[in-house]
Amino acid sequence: MRERLLAAEKVTAIRWTGDALQLLDQRLLPLQETWLNYDSAAGVAGAIRDMVVRGAPAIGIAAAYGLVLGLRVRLAEGADWRAALEQDYALLADSRPTAVNLFWALNRMIDRLDRLRPDEPVLASMVAEAEAIHQSDREANLTMAQFGVDLIRKHLDRPQSLLTHCNTGALATGGFGTALGVIRGAYLEGLVEQVYADETRPWLQGSRLTAWELAGEGIPVKLNADSAAAHLMKTCGVTWVVVGADRITANGDVANKIGTYQLAVLAMHHGVRFMVVAPSSTIDMSLEDGDQIPIEERAGSELLEVNGQRFAADVEAVNPVFDVTPADLIDAIVTEKGVVERPNAEKMAALMSRKRLH
Ligand code: MRU
Repeated sequence: MRERLLAAEKVTAIRWTGDALQLLDQRLLPLQETWLNYDSAAGVAGAIRDMVVRGAPAIGIAAAYGLVLGLRVRLAEGADWRAALEQDYALLADSRPTAVNLFWALNRMIDRLDRLRPDEPVLASMVAEAEAIHQSDREANLTMAQFGVDLIRKHLDRPQSLLTHCNTGALATGGFGTALGVIRGAYLEGLVEQVYADETRPWLQGSRLTAWELAGEGIPVKLNADSAAAHLMKTCGVTWVVVGADRITANGDVANKIGTYQLAVLAMHHGVRFMVVAPSSTIDMSLEDGDQIPIEERAGSELLEVNGQRFAADVEAVNPVFDVTPADLIDAIVTEKGVVERPNAEKMAALMSRKRLH
């Protein structure tokens, strides 16, 4: 399946040119494919905040390259470059609060910097570290796709209907995607009859990004209003909800795009299985449970306006963009380290003590 997934690859959203970071502007998709160029940490922090790049793993990868860009400037400034780099770290860390991959990637970069031997070239070593973060996410996607497909097949070995939320594909990662990587793999293995993609209000990651990615590969996808999910589960034979994650805590609670929690409740009611697919860089063992995850709130204008044009009544909006699904509503968490079925604290600890598979 690995070879077939690689052969089917069409979309990338992050490019490192050797001296700049290029990002496919996800705010404009699918109407326009515009690449933007970044040569500073502040620029990359702004791109993360403004959702030029989004999706937990992609944010982490972009931040790692952003730190490299900051480092290059600080080294050129000379003198106390190490202290000055802290400002770039802080700027990048402040760009979005919920996806832990951002902090995981930045901390991995700083660890590498701290462990540099005197004979190692600073900038080249840090570029290599950012590239390794990028590449390992791609590898993790491939491994998770295989695990997720095996799990789907274990329960039902024939084409079936899967429902997904938000965008977890090539646009959101360094490779093919987490949940969307599993869906891509399942399609290649003949296990997909129909994908239902929640439109994912208010930012429309489903309508604009997931539908675009899947349709581009000929995978049968239908777009549905978020509020149609219960009806589809009841009437369209959906067997699995497959979603990604922005942060998974030590007890297996999962923060993901707003609307994920209600899908898990609905899935439980309808006997539909619920799979979360995320690399281990999304797991935050420092937090005991999901109540401790910072939930990003974005501007009310995302709900009140379309293309800058107000359509809602003159009221305030509340716009939390993530929610937390409790572990006991989850059938499986699929990571590159392995699969945890019916997650709890003990199983999560056992998973995290395993070595990476690649
Ligand atoms: O606000 P976004 O678009 O960054 O939110 C993205 C999600 O919630 C994804 O489901 C999650 O990051 C996993 S992406 C592989």
